[in-house]
Amino acid sequence: MKEHLSDRINNMSTSATLAMAAKARELRNSGEDIIGLSLGEPDFNIPDFIKEAAKQAIDENYSSYPPVDGYADLKAAITEKFKRDNALDYASDQIVVSTGAKQSIANVAMVMLNKGDEVILPAPYWVSYRDIVKLAEATPVIVRTSIEHDFKITPEQLRKAITPKTKMLWFSSPCNPSGSVYSLDELKGLAEVLKKHPDIFVVSDEIYEHINFQGKHVSIAGIDGMYERTITVNGVSKAFAMTGWRIGYIGAASWIAKACTKFQGQITSGANAIGQRATIAALQAPVSKISYMIEKFHSRRDLILTLLGEIDGFKLNIPEGAFYVFPDISSFFGKTLNGIKIKDASDFAMYLLEYANVATVTGAAFGNPDCIRISYAASEEQIIEAIKRIKTAVTGVKELA
Ligand SMILES: Cc1ncc(COP(=O)(O)O)c(C=O)c1O
Repeated sequence: MKEHLSDRINNMSTSATLAMAAKARELRNSGEDIIGLSLGEPDFNIPDFIKEAAKQAIDENYSSYPPVDGYADLKAAITEKFKRDNALDYASDQIVVSTGAKQSIANVAMVMLNKGDEVILPAPYWVSYRDIVKLAEATPVIVRTSIEHDFKITPEQLRKAITPKTKMLWFSSPCNPSGSVYSLDELKGLAEVLKKHPDIFVVSDEIYEHINFQGKHVSIAGIDGMYERTITVNGVSKAFAMTGWRIGYIGAASWIAKACTKFQGQITSGANAIGQRATIAALQAPVSKISYMIEKFHSRRDLILTLLGEIDGFKLNIPEGAFYVFPDISSFFGKTLNGIKIKDASDFAMYLLEYANVATVTGAAFGNPDCIRISYAASEEQIIEAIKRIKTAVTGVKELA
């Protein structure tokens, strides 16, 4: 039946994170005690003040189609948020609210990219970037970063990757999957390279902005020469534990925002009304209201780094944000564990699922096949138990005969 489907869908890969979660669910349903560390989803409940705003919106009958680009008072709250947290001035006509940051990014791809355009993706990159770029018929140009450079692209690497076809650079900071956070100086270094190429645009995905253990988030749009050509992406899924509410947004030049609104008007008609009303409460609250979650992620980060550091063969950077570790486990390649040959990170992640009952995600899905991604958006007990199981499963490694 595949032949009846479009090339577009046949050429698209299934989201590896969702596929791993589905596999873990299947094993769990068949009675296995699986610890799921594969999903990028906070394990907290939505704060009560946000729930109250949603309940109020239902009672106030927010049930009609909202404006395609978002309610005016939500856009005003986003404008204020950009000023307060990022020192960025985006007027109301520069903001578009969408069905999650994922749709915000897909909108940008659809309205900015043509066939043959190149999009530079520093790897590891967020799992969906590559397929979204391909869906827009553009070409992903993967630039592999190194653990020694904390998985960040250097100005030199960026300079070398640019060709006359380069249209955009997409990256996330804090980064999913590496947890790396770009400093002001590092972003200035990239901006310096881009200065010579005024037609290259940047998607700056800042959805993990608040989950930052250095406490200093920098938006590249605030750097000299970058404002007009940066699309700043954000949303409420991660910091406010609102993944299911599906609200994301962009701040961008008004002509880009207008194009995204036009596109979205034909695809979804806009983001869900109750989620938008709840987002107003989330964004207007002082950031201190969610600091208990950030503190928890920070202590879990320290815990998981300590525990993984005790396992031979796991090479780690120190993630300064988000809620993932991205260990290089390539030292296991070519070895056998419990009789299973490990050729690559996908084998390793599958081995951990079957022999440690722990779900992780292969780094191949993020453009780095030497690593796996482990999410620590889980309780301390789960983290301790999961790493204990992983340690047991990978010790006693025998060389291949
Ligand atoms: C880097 C990054 N960008 C965007 C998204 C999409 O977020 P949303 O839930 O708002 O669609 C995610 C979610 O995993 C992410 O990790």
